[in-house]
Amino acid sequence: MAPSIPISPQSAASTNSKRLSSARLCASALMVASMGSRDDATMVAVIALTALLAAAAASGSPAEGFQPLSKIAIHKTTVQLHSSAYVEATPALLGEQGEDTEWVTVKYGWANQSVDDWIAVFSPADFNSGACPNPSRYLGEPLLCTAPIKYQYANYSANYMYWGKGSIRFRLINQRADFAFALFTGGLENVSSLLLLSLHQPKLIAVSEPIAFKNPKAPVFPRLAQGNTHDEMTVTWTSGYDISEAYPFVEWSVAGAQPTRTPAGTLTFNRGSMCGEPARTIGWRDPGFIHTAFMRNLWPNKEYSYKIGHELPDGSIVWGKPYTFRAPPTPGQNSLQRVIVFGDMGKAERDGSNEFANYQPGSLNTTDTLVEDLDNYDIVFHIGDMPYANGYLSQWDQFTAQVAPITAKKPYMIASGNHERDWPNTGGFFDVKDSGGECGVPAETYYYYPAENRANFWYKVDYGMFRFCVADSEHDWREGTPQYSFIEHCLSTVDRKHQPWLIFAAHRVLGYSSNSWYASQGSFEEPEGRESLQKLWQKYRVDMAFFGHVHNYERTCPMYQNQCMTRERSRYSGTMNGTIFVVAGGGGSHLSDYTTAIPRWSVFRDRDFGFVKLTAFNHSSLLFEYKKSSDGKVYDSFTIDRDYRDVLSCVHDSCFPTTLAT
Ligand SMILES: [Fe+2]
Repeated sequence: MAPSIPISPQSAASTNSKRLSSARLCASALMVASMGSRDDATMVAVIALTALLAAAAASGSPAEGFQPLSKIAIHKTTVQLHSSAYVEATPALLGEQGEDTEWVTVKYGWANQSVDDWIAVFSPADFNSGACPNPSRYLGEPLLCTAPIKYQYANYSANYMYWGKGSIRFRLINQRADFAFALFTGGLENVSSLLLLSLHQPKLIAVSEPIAFKNPKAPVFPRLAQGNTHDEMTVTWTSGYDISEAYPFVEWSVAGAQPTRTPAGTLTFNRGSMCGEPARTIGWRDPGFIHTAFMRNLWPNKEYSYKIGHELPDGSIVWGKPYTFRAPPTPGQNSLQRVIVFGDMGKAERDGSNEFANYQPGSLNTTDTLVEDLDNYDIVFHIGDMPYANGYLSQWDQFTAQVAPITAKKPYMIASGNHERDWPNTGGFFDVKDSGGECGVPAETYYYYPAENRANFWYKVDYGMFRFCVADSEHDWREGTPQYSFIEHCLSTVDRKHQPWLIFAAHRVLGYSSNSWYASQGSFEEPEGRESLQKLWQKYRVDMAFFGHVHNYERTCPMYQNQCMTRERSRYSGTMNGTIFVVAGGGGSHLSDYTTAIPRWSVFRDRDFGFVKLTAFNHSSLLFEYKKSSDGKVYDSFTIDRDYRDVLSCVHDSCFPTTLAT
């Protein structure tokens, strides 16, 4: 039985194309397809095992997938360089004009070609150097200890199986180190060490000469985020320059004014900061240096230009690209204010590599739709599960590069998801391994957010007529915890006559979702999700609560304690009597199913990739829109028209006691 190999150039192209449908291949089919030629008995055993693995994955979370890099058993690789095998990459020098992204052509071949052959991209190029962490579960000292940053099957190139020669184009980003391309045979060997240990092992048979960006240390991929106050914008970026080599700074100015230079702080982390595998072992990659500068005392709504840079000891400056941003409005300011909300976007490779797991099939569509629409929104909330690096740290660079066209121009506010934070025995609320050993460190370092302690991912953002209270569903939120105190403080300290639009957000569904996995557990939420919080949402009249984690779209009626407070579906006005709950987890990762029975409170469901846009026209009028990533068009919407007295009006459990005294 010789199944055709994973993905053809044509199908890969369609994976990355617009209008990608919600259909996805099942994990079993993908894993079987990835194994290449084996005998039938082995195949039957593997199919059975794969089904078990898929069932286990399905039972562990609302929606999980396979990190493509985890499919490679790099630590089991043997090295058998073959005289007839070769790999060549051109050009040797990248980014000659200062580009941070380049396409390279990789040519390769050998006499005993196989459907199992694959090309790995390594960075640094000297991927076999240094000590192996050699965790106890590996038998003996592994020959290779570093996962590639991406890979592609050799027969992705047409006629490789016929001629034994192929050519693939890879898209590389500047990641502070050089690159090498390696040809492997023997498959990826990842499915089962019990069944397949002696049958298939990756064999390294050829390696290219290294290629590199002209300045691998160059500052790249700026990320804006609102600071502690409305008049403060922060910019965070990545470089290869430690503070001892060059001073990081941002040069910025309002249009027509003399530019100011503001120094940046520098952070990094090391392998020892990781909590487990693979982040601590084969997934580790040096993160370089992450710099953050604060641009303060901004004039509301004014356009600013900025440019990141590093001053070298000789006084010369290495510049990043120039960008502009619009300063946030003051709290309560009456102006047009537009907000994007989604979760669970993930990353994908534009060259079609790493796609065999169909890991985040809608990611590029969402990114590209938001890039095309940059002029029509002001601030973005990505509420958790960002790259799904799962301990393969190179993927954080790929993600920051993918969203850079957005983050360089709009404040990009994030929340912590299970794929950023969760690891057993590290103080999180969920003792699972979803972060691949990252335990929150990359997320808390690569991005800025105005939390008092960035290890606790909760913070508030005032944006004009909005207040956002962003919670951390990976840490305990229940009554009596520090996070509960923060949530109550955030909700209670906003002056609703000036900031009428009060929004709660967290990654996991602490509100309501008719996702099939929750239903299979007998609920419509995370365990104890809303039990403590719903009285706060009601008492402080939260307009909307957003969640991700479940990879689809769903919105409820305005509700409290499982009950709809109105039958209205699209035009809400008058007394505010409940919170509207929204799942916006269809940012890009593979989609989640619903229960077959639709709960009464579920007003609209869409199992597709998409995001939400809020538009506040003034203090009384808000427009909610759900858009699909595939075409950017609106598929669900409603309006809220409300005056201040409608927020003050008392409904069930929403007011303090009154006295009869006059
Ligand atoms: Fe999640």
